[in-house]
Amino acid sequence: MAKFEVLDHPLIQHKLTMIRDKHVGTKVFRETVREIATLMAYEVSRSMPLKDVEVETPIAKTTQKELAGKKVAIVPILRAGLGMVDGMTELIPAAKIGFIGMYRDEKTLKPHEYFVKLPNDITERQLFIVDPMLATGGSAIDAIGALKKRGCQEKNMKFACLVAAPEGVKAVRSTYPDVDIYTCALDDHLNENGYIVPGLGDAGDRLFGTK
Ligand code: PRP
Ligand code: URA
Repeated sequence: MAKFEVLDHPLIQHKLTMIRDKHVGTKVFRETVREIATLMAYEVSRSMPLKDVEVETPIAKTTQKELAGKKVAIVPILRAGLGMVDGMTELIPAAKIGFIGMYRDEKTLKPHEYFVKLPNDITERQLFIVDPMLATGGSAIDAIGALKKRGCQEKNMKFACLVAAPEGVKAVRSTYPDVDIYTCALDDHLNENGYIVPGLGDAGDRLFGTK
């Protein structure tokens, strides 16, 4: 079974509490999601492999470490996942970006895929799939399925969200047990409309000022 981790760094927790507040407007919400994503990139990349390299400092030759493993692709689930991309590329500037467009039907809560555009070498990369919200898990499951259909392997995928519901975590883990999941908070439950409680509301609408 892959990793499930709640990222309890104090800065992440503080910033997440800020944006849960319904009075926070689009500007601060967007800026803070970006900042949290940067902190998440630091945590999610912690297990990336290293190799020894020779380097000559102004003083001496030495053996030191550099990144060794697969290159990274960040895959936001549109729309709300877009809010996490710039924060992550702050730390991983050479990452390629793949896009999976998905919206949840408000009545059935079932996800509908409307767009997929991925880097050509996506199967060779370590994937950070990003979406602020993991609610029923339907969108994450379909996004992972879309990547697998194109040859990507679960063991190369890490799913990163800001807030998760227990229902969504359970659904993703039972469907795709080899995908690591990172969240900043594991909330209480889903309400009758499929919103995470207490959550932070509709992440896409709050990021982009819609509704
Ligand atoms: C939200 C969110 C996730 C999805 C989570 O997107 O960003 O993609 O819902 O819900 P689930 O786990 O039950 O599938 P939404 O469909 O509202 O689209 P948006 O990002 O365009 O706002
Ligand atoms: N999507 C959101 O944006 N928020 C939720 O609480 C659930 C799904």
